Amino acid sequence: MRKKIVAGNWKMNMDLAEGLKFAGSIDKYFKDKPSARALPILCTPFIHLAGVSEILKHGKVALGAQNCASEASGAFTGEVSAWMVRSTGAEYVILGHSERRMYYHEDDMLINKKTLLAINSGLKVIFCCGEVLSEREAGSHFQIVKRQLEVGLFTLSEEQMDKIVVAYEPVWAIGTGLTATPDQAQEMHKFIRDKVKEKYGNDCAKKLPILYGGSCKPSNAAEIFSKPDVDGGLIGGASLKREDFVAIVEAMQ
Ligand code: PGA
Repeated sequence: MRKKIVAGNWKMNMDLAEGLKFAGSIDKYFKDKPSARALPILCTPFIHLAGVSEILKHGKVALGAQNCASEASGAFTGEVSAWMVRSTGAEYVILGHSERRMYYHEDDMLINKKTLLAINSGLKVIFCCGEVLSEREAGSHFQIVKRQLEVGLFTLSEEQMDKIVVAYEPVWAIGTGLTATPDQAQEMHKFIRDKVKEKYGNDCAKKLPILYGGSCKPSNAAEIFSKPDVDGGLIGGASLKREDFVAIVEAMQ
């Protein structure tokens, strides 16, 4: 059985007090439940990590960051290293998000470097991939995702692949209210799993959790999650509302 995951990506939202309060309410919800259907992860801004880590410490919700530096340490003003993230108690980091690719010009090589560094620092990586609208319209979406995987991920060893969660996020579905259909998601998730199988073999491919991201909400989550190669979601906007986030976790069968 593959691990089921629903990760909330807060992006650049909530100040420290708001974030701590929100994390507390999510923690409480899952503590009171016998067992969640999927592992909930909160991916917060850097400034929340240490405080949220204390709050989540004895509970059932995991913690992640949304980025980390491409260098291990040193004179890189304003950067936060993978090891610093790990030292807060966070276990995960999102890398290769389309907003990082788009606004901060992160390319596949840089994402690969960050991914290796994060794993070597003891983090698990939620590795994002996905095509933009023009690529989907031109029919090149498989080619794009294949390149993102090959350059960004496939330098890892099989052992390192154990620390990877892939998130397929069609860029045209992020924050737009447009969602990939469950069939479109399944088709790409299967494609990703097949590529991993070609490179690393069946065992590795079978174990890999592949999340869907892009306007996932309580009303569409169950249908998307019902697809055989969809192992959960990476949730942006809807992760900022407690009822919506927990409903999406509960939508996992
Ligand atoms: P969204 O964002 O759920 O707001 O579309 C998803 C993401 O960017 O991870």
